[in-house]
This record gives sequence, C-alpha cells and structure tokens, in this order.
Amino acid sequence: MGEYIRTMIPAEDIDRRIRELAALISRDYAGRTLHMICVLKGGAYFMMMLSRYLDESLAVTMDFMSVSSYGDGTESSGIVRILKDLDQNIQGKDVLMVDDITDSGRTLYHLLGMLWQRKPNSLRVCTLLDKPDRRGWDVRIDYAGFEIEDVFVVGCGLDYKQKYRNLPYIGELVLE
Ligand code: IMP
Ligand code: MG
Repeated sequence: MGEYIRTMIPAEDIDRRIRELAALISRDYAGRTLHMICVLKGGAYFMMMLSRYLDESLAVTMDFMSVSSYGDGTESSGIVRILKDLDQNIQGKDVLMVDDITDSGRTLYHLLGMLWQRKPNSLRVCTLLDKPDRRGWDVRIDYAGFEIEDVFVVGCGLDYKQKYRNLPYIGELVLE
C-alpha cells in the first residue's frame, strides 16, 4: 500500500499564524516569566517555532515531558502514563503547555489534572492544531493555531509511524 501527503496548510501560513500566536502570548505574559512545557515528541517542532518569535524582552524558561496516552489500552480508562517527567518544579510558575494537536483531548485533560496538583500560578494550553469535532474531554485551549476537520494529518511535529515530523507544512496523509 502506498502513501502520500496532500498539502493542507502551506508552510507560509503556518509561519504567519505562529508569529501571530507568539505576539499574543508575548502580550499576555508581559512582565512575567513564561515557563513553556513541551509535550514530546509532537510538540517539539511547534514549541521551537513559537519560541523564536516571542518578544525578546519576555523572560522564557522551558521544560519537556513525555507521556503515553494508552496506559492499559482502553480508550476510557483515563490513564496517562508519564514516560519522562519535568526536570523543574512548576509551583508558582506561569506555565504554558505546548502540544501539536488536540484531538479527543484525553491526553491533555489528564496531564492538566496532574500538573494542577503541583500548584502552578497559572496553567494554559497552546496547540498548533485543534480538531474540535473529536473532542470528548473538556479541555480549554487558550491558544490554537488552526482548527481542522477530522482527518489524519502529519508535518510540523505530527507523525505517521514516526515519519514526517520534519515537514514544514501540514498535510493530509493519504493511503492508497
Ligand atoms: P488526544 O488525547 O486524543 O487529544 O490525542 C492527542 C494526540 O494524538 C496528539 O498529541 C497526537 O500525538 C496524536 N494525534 C491526534 N490526531 C493526530 C493526527 O491527525 N496526526 C498525527 N497525530 C495525531
Ligand atoms: Mg502529542
């Protein structure tokens, strides 16, 4: 079976939108220290893109974590397993979670619950893509790059069997 990628959001549009988000975030966090948390591996590309467009006067710190959404394999179990925890304490910090896409919202929902227990001063969410049609878990996305319909996409950090994360555009995966 062959596969190819059909461009859905071109690189220029992604770049422009990420600059807009960076401007919004720079304005909202002005005067504070922004603690960005990347959800590996999908969020890495977006977090680096976003961070380079933040206002240079903004104080920014970063940390990384990795989770597995399928603790015991059942969709509804609500188990999110931490594969790599944060290195730094987030108590009292203004935390921004950065991820590639919010689909069902399941991963983020449980991650946010876990992180709130560590008492950050604030905890917001920024995702490059949002698939609202698929949302089964009540998560609030504070900053979203693009809303997309329910198709499987790759690029800008998103993968299919670990491939295509490097593509500078978002494309629909077509299997034939
Ligand atoms: P959720 O817990 O259902 O919101 O799942 C979110 C995770 O599933 C994302 O962080 C992605 O890693 C993955 N995912 C969801 N939709 C896609 C897609 O269209 N392409 C690639 N990965 C996806
Ligand atoms: Mg992910």
